[in-house]
Order: sequence, then structure tokens, then C-alpha cells
Amino acid sequence: MSTAGWIGLGKLGAVCALTLVKHGGHQVIGYDPSPRPAQILRGDAPPPQEEGIEALLAGADLTLATSPAQVVATTDRVVFVAVQTPHSPAYGGEQPMPEEPRDFEYQYLVQAVRDLCRAAEEQQKQVTIAVVSTCLPGTMNRLIRPLLNEWTTLVYNPAFIAMGTTIADYLNPEFVLLGADDPRHVEPVLDIYATVHDRPAQIMGIESAELTKVAYNVVISTKIVVANALMEICHKTGADCDDVADALAMATDRVVSAKYMRGGMGDGGHCHPRDLIAMSWLAQRLDLSTDVLGYMARAREAQSDWLADLAQELAEQTGLDICILGKAYKPGSDLTGGSPALLLAYQLRERGIKVGHYDPHIDRGTIALDTPGLFVIATKHDAFVDYRFSPGSVVIDPHGYMPDQPGVTTIRVGRKT
Ligand SMILES: NC(=O)c1ccc[n+]([C@@H]2O[C@H](COP(=O)([O-])OP(=O)(O)OC[C@H]3O[C@@H](n4cnc5c(N)ncnc54)[C@H](O)[C@@H]3O)[C@@H](O)[C@H]2O)c1
Repeated sequence: MSTAGWIGLGKLGAVCALTLVKHGGHQVIGYDPSPRPAQILRGDAPPPQEEGIEALLAGADLTLATSPAQVVATTDRVVFVAVQTPHSPAYGGEQPMPEEPRDFEYQYLVQAVRDLCRAAEEQQKQVTIAVVSTCLPGTMNRLIRPLLNEWTTLVYNPAFIAMGTTIADYLNPEFVLLGADDPRHVEPVLDIYATVHDRPAQIMGIESAELTKVAYNVVISTKIVVANALMEICHKTGADCDDVADALAMATDRVVSAKYMRGGMGDGGHCHPRDLIAMSWLAQRLDLSTDVLGYMARAREAQSDWLADLAQELAEQTGLDICILGKAYKPGSDLTGGSPALLLAYQLRERGIKVGHYDPHIDRGTIALDTPGLFVIATKHDAFVDYRFSPGSVVIDPHGYMPDQPGVTTIRVGRKT
């Protein structure tokens, strides 16, 4: 049984480290200065909302270290680093992005790698530092490589994980991405992955791996911007965006995949909108011929603004008060990072409109539906299908899944029926 190290036991790190213990049969020694991981393991704090987390925590055998040096002393070779690389407030996609885009912040990552390098040198022990944290291309070269010494080897190994399905995504990724100066550097990391799945590895230079990680997210965001442009055209021409999406879904050869091609709210999540914004910063820094990703970030906001127009017009026509249903960015969850539902609420309030906002996965109590209102379904929660709105209400449904109800006008945006 091998022992791996893990630095940063947050939303991603704790779940992945526990998955390695349970499914890979490894011992994992983790370090995090926050008391939260220990509280979660003891059952004193709620775990992240992840499918299968209870089974993972039952009898969880994750060892907590009191210092990075203890992690270095205990690991066989590899230490994964999954500390936060946060964005500045207002750069997450919950509100329109400020005029000037920005890079992520790397002080936690620099500190974590510096501590590991120092400990490896003091202990004269060879350590492979596998950085999982998201960064823009060039960051390892600029900030992390200068910290390395003769005892440390760098591998960039970002995770393609969506919150809520972290365990399944970790156990069954489309591929494992590994960036290294020398392909031999990744071997101890691959040995660890071989114990949890047999998915292919894409091995490349560090800068290419850094770019691949954010490119994955920005391509998804771009698909959603295109899907929502089609939805808007359908709304204005009488075409049906679901028919269009169903047809495009057949073109798996040229369009690649049908996912993220259905009209709805803009892209959301803790990673995607912020990655677009940060890539816009990079485009400006590199003086690219076109800042197409910055354009996509603005397009996402403009499309949300158009939904706000639609709601405002209908509210003025009907005299109904607007209530947004849903705050989370994904159905069935309470996660609001980069949520397009928050962006829509922000845009409506910026216009001076009083907006009610309720999410059954986040707010206490229930919502009163006994008077007519103008409801915008911002999150595709299953629960909303069972809501019975008062006759005279208007429901704006960008996802196209809400059923008809007597006396209620349901506008399935960009759909014929
Ligand atoms: N959460 C996801 O679904 C997800 C998906 C893909 C990529 N990522 C990336 O993974 C990284 C981590 O994300 P997260 O959501 O887990 O962040 P998080 O904020 O939930 O957790 C980060 C953890 O690192 C700890 N930490 C900070 N400095 C440390 C140090 N010097 N030593 C040890 N621990 C330290 C913090 O206390 C915290 O518990 C980020 O770069 C993020 O962009 C996250």
C-alpha cells in the first residue's frame, strides 16, 4: 500500500483524497491549516454536497498532518497540491465583470509549494509535487518553477471535476491531464491513478497542460453562449431551440457532442465564468489579435441582460412583481458560485426593479404562491415543476421544461410550445 500526500483539503482536495483512500487503497496524509477538514471527518461540520459523500466518509481513513513537513516525511513520493487560486470579488460571474479583467490569485499556491520545497530540502527527500489547482498558462513558469530545488519535481495535474459529482468524475475522467518537463516525471503520478481507473493520460508540456485545463472550461462556456444565441433567435423568429439542439445532437462527428448545446441560462459554476474572465486578462496581456474569450464573457452577460429585458417588459405589461426562482447554478444543489441566476437578479436590481428571489435548496421555509406573480425560472430544479402558480401568473422558463397550468401563461423561451 503506497502513501500519497495531499495539501489543501477543501471542496476538491478532501473529496479526491478520500476517494484515493477508499477506491485506490492508498494511505493519504493530508495537510490543511483550516480546522474544517478535521471537523468534517469527525462529523462536526457538514461535508460538501457531493453524490456518495456519506459512503466515502463512513470509516474514512484519511490521516491529517500538522505540517507540510510531516506530509513530505510520510509520502512515498507524490504530494498533490489543491489549494485555492481564488478570483477577486466581482470576477466570478455572479455580476457583470468589471471593465478590466484580472488573473487569479496565487499566493496560497506559492506558499504551499514553497513549504513543500523547503521541507524536501531539509529532509533531503525526493518529492514529486503534482499541482492540481487551476491557473492560467505561464503561471508555473513565472511563480512555481523558481521555488523548486534539486529535491523537487513539478507535475501539473489539474482535475476536470464538477462540484456535486466530484467522486464519479475523479473515478471516471475523460482523460488524465499531466504536464511535465520530462515525461518520466509523471510516472509516480500515473502509478497512483492506475489504482483507481484505466482512463487514458494526456502528457504534454506544463504550459500546454495549464492551457488545456482552462480551455476545457472556456469551450463549454462558448458552446453555451452559442446555444443561448440560438435560443434568442428562436424566440424572435418562431423557430424552436430544442428542435435545433436535437438535430445538432445527431452531428456527433462534426459538432463533437450534444452537451451544453441547449438554450437556457448562461454558464455558471465556481470555475467556468471566472476562467473566461481570467483568459480575457491573458488575451490582453499577450496582446492577442482578438480577445474572443473576453467577448464570450460579455456575451454571457448580454444574454442574461436580454432575459432581464424580457422579464421587465412583461412585468410592465402585466403589473406583476418579478420573482426569480432558483439561485444555484446547477439543478438540485445549493451551489451559487458564478451562478447566472445571481447575475440575472443583479441586472434586474441594477435597473431599480424590486425582485423577489427564492431557492428551495438554499432558503428556509416555502414561497407563497397564493397571489399572481411573474416568475423567472433561473435554476432548473425539479421541484419547480410541482409548483402551482396562481391564475394570472406569468412563468418565464428559459430551460423549456415547465408544464402548462390553467390560467398561467408559461413562456418557454425560444420554444414553439
Ligand atoms: N472545487 C472544484 O470543483 C474544482 C474543480 C476543478 C478545479 N478546482 C481548482 O482546485 C483548486 C482548489 O479548489 P477548491 O474548490 O477545493 O478550493 P477550496 O477553497 O474549497 O479549498 C482550498 C483549501 O486549501 C487550503 N489551503 C490554503 N492554503 C494552504 C496551504 N498553504 N497548505 C495547505 N492547505 C492550504 C484551504 O484552507 C482550503 O481548505 C482551485 O484552484 C480550483 O480552481 C476546483
